[in-house]
Amino acid sequence: MTSDCQELPTPSAVQLPMLGLTHGKRSPVTCHLKCDSQCARPEPNASTEPTFAEVAGRQLTRRAMLVGGSALAAAAALPAVWPQQAAAHPKPGHPDHPGHGPLAFTPIGPVGAEVDLLTVPNGYQWTPILRWGDPLFANSPAFDPSRPNARAQQLQFGYNNDYLDILVDPRGRTGLLCCNHEYTNRNIMFPPTTTAEQEAEVLKALMAAHGFSVVELERRATKQPWRYVRGGRRNRRFTANTPFRLTGPAAGSKLVTTAADPSGRTALGTFGNCSGGTTPWGTILSGEENFNGYFVADPAARGSKRYGLTNTPSVYGWEQVDPRFDATKPGYANEPHRFGYIVEIDPYDPSSTPRKHTAMGRFKHEGANIRVDNDGTVAAYMGDDERFDYLYKFVAKRKHRPGKSAEARRHNLQLLTEGDLYVARFSGTQRPDGANLGRGVWLPLVLDGRSQVPGMSVEEVLVFTREAADAVKATPMDRCEDVQPHPKSGKVYVACTNNTQRGTAGKPGADAANPRPTSTQPTGSTNKDGHVIEITEHRNRAGATTFSWNILLLWGDPTDEKVRTYFAGWDGPVAPISCPDNLAFDSVGNLWVATDGAPSTIEKADGLFKVPLEGRQRGHVQQFLAVPTDAETCGPVVHDTDDSVFVAVQHPGEDGSWAEQRSYFPDFVPAGHRPRKGAWRGPRPTVVQVTRQRRSR
Ligand code: FEO
Ligand code: CA
Ligand code: CA
Repeated sequence: MTSDCQELPTPSAVQLPMLGLTHGKRSPVTCHLKCDSQCARPEPNASTEPTFAEVAGRQLTRRAMLVGGSALAAAAALPAVWPQQAAAHPKPGHPDHPGHGPLAFTPIGPVGAEVDLLTVPNGYQWTPILRWGDPLFANSPAFDPSRPNARAQQLQFGYNNDYLDILVDPRGRTGLLCCNHEYTNRNIMFPPTTTAEQEAEVLKALMAAHGFSVVELERRATKQPWRYVRGGRRNRRFTANTPFRLTGPAAGSKLVTTAADPSGRTALGTFGNCSGGTTPWGTILSGEENFNGYFVADPAARGSKRYGLTNTPSVYGWEQVDPRFDATKPGYANEPHRFGYIVEIDPYDPSSTPRKHTAMGRFKHEGANIRVDNDGTVAAYMGDDERFDYLYKFVAKRKHRPGKSAEARRHNLQLLTEGDLYVARFSGTQRPDGANLGRGVWLPLVLDGRSQVPGMSVEEVLVFTREAADAVKATPMDRCEDVQPHPKSGKVYVACTNNTQRGTAGKPGADAANPRPTSTQPTGSTNKDGHVIEITEHRNRAGATTFSWNILLLWGDPTDEKVRTYFAGWDGPVAPISCPDNLAFDSVGNLWVATDGAPSTIEKADGLFKVPLEGRQRGHVQQFLAVPTDAETCGPVVHDTDDSVFVAVQHPGEDGSWAEQRSYFPDFVPAGHRPRKGAWRGPRPTVVQVTRQRRSR
């Protein structure tokens, strides 16, 4: 990394307001550069697109965007090629060109965490497709957060969209939007309650705002914005009360039976769904992550400590309206054992029953992504997103059946119900450049239907999977988020989002695969910014039991000497980047990384970044977009041959002050305040499509 001022620009000159809020508690833009924040100077707008002021003058505010309008504009930012490298750069179309791929763009610069806008590259525009509360069915009530209503919410798009995929039908004019809804922010969704009846209705509405949505899409032509179809034949909502069928060896075991379900085969609902994956056979996988926050439980019960279950009131308070969320009550002790799985949803069959696959283990699943080897072997890669938890692999017992016949699909729909479960152990040595090379082994937990963990039955391994992984001495990781096999090379990319406790008192210290301890290195570096590991299976086989690996990226602000960053050997400038979370690939094999961590890490808004993996541009991080204040960038979908990128903008505005949050509810009058008039005006989690601007519009 060069040490001169890199002239990184201020937030892009042309942006669309998304949240429209001023967070006074936010720090001003801080670029951390050695040039003493020269880069904080306003940058001239080189774009021919309307300026922010012009756009704002048309009153296309966040409220217009996300509450009631459509969107248009874009942002100007970094030069396409850094001046000192321009002479050496190949022409567009060459794999070594930084813009290689169908979706060339000029990277935006880092955007301050206080910028309440969705920022996209110059020449691009964004359009909201679906927002929290949008009616999905013909009989859906209109969105009205001033009157929380559980039945209405069941018929509307849920809250906090995270995993996302856009499945395009063969003719290209219709498709399906598949999206989960991780959790809720009731303080900015609904006004405070004043009666017990109101409180009960709010809690039930919040349960209905969780889960999953399948929504039909349509458009006039390819490369045009999608619109959702209200009342589409395949539209569905899954909530915290939808019946799911348990599959696999632990289904029906005494570890998952309850008074309400003595068969142990039907669990009600899914929640805490974080990331996911789309299978080659056209289903969606979604990871049940922080399920512990929904329960009251006996802290002495088996698994409570390891899974973070306590006997204090739950985070979400659902035990007030449904006793199954209080596992200390008679008959409900096993209710928490029915969450923490990978769920599979068939979006093409509206009558299908969603399933939870116990064979894939129970932990705080971030998600699961499938690789099908040439011989039909099916592997699912999975992370447990908790500090010092583990990386897992599931290998299906049966081989994938190719083709589109009904018989092949029926066969493939059973692939995740039976197979072998492994957990990773890494070994290796630290290198001065941070790349760190090593070997690894997949330690078996279940093989051929038999437990490989002394003293634990198969059912116990699959319900208390963390205990099983502890017993075989897996490697404690820095919070594995998305784990995705590359669609072309088969290499596996592991996003370790951060771990600010590695090396602290009583915690594991650094190792080769998690090389940054907290404040114990001479450099004072910490793993507050996370890293990405690149894994190559032995002989590149999905079913291999050993692998090699290297550190691909050590995130952070490369201009901060205290932070040891590494960008796959790339030594040109990159934008500060922190906390990798969701991963995606484009059609030429570039990695795209969505982040979740600002502003606590580098004081920049979260965003979406392209990272070439091959050739001279390997490791050259280029930012594509930034999300508004407090939001996390989720569910990136890159349809570059269709000129489109999709993101799920999650929890915008969730950290705002009490005064800001109360300002969303004009009807709510705190004691001592005068009534105001007007509609609710809070932020709405939104699925957004980014496309190239077209002159004809
Ligand atoms: Fe919900 Fe692992 O982030
Ligand atoms: Ca995540
Ligand atoms: Ca995260």
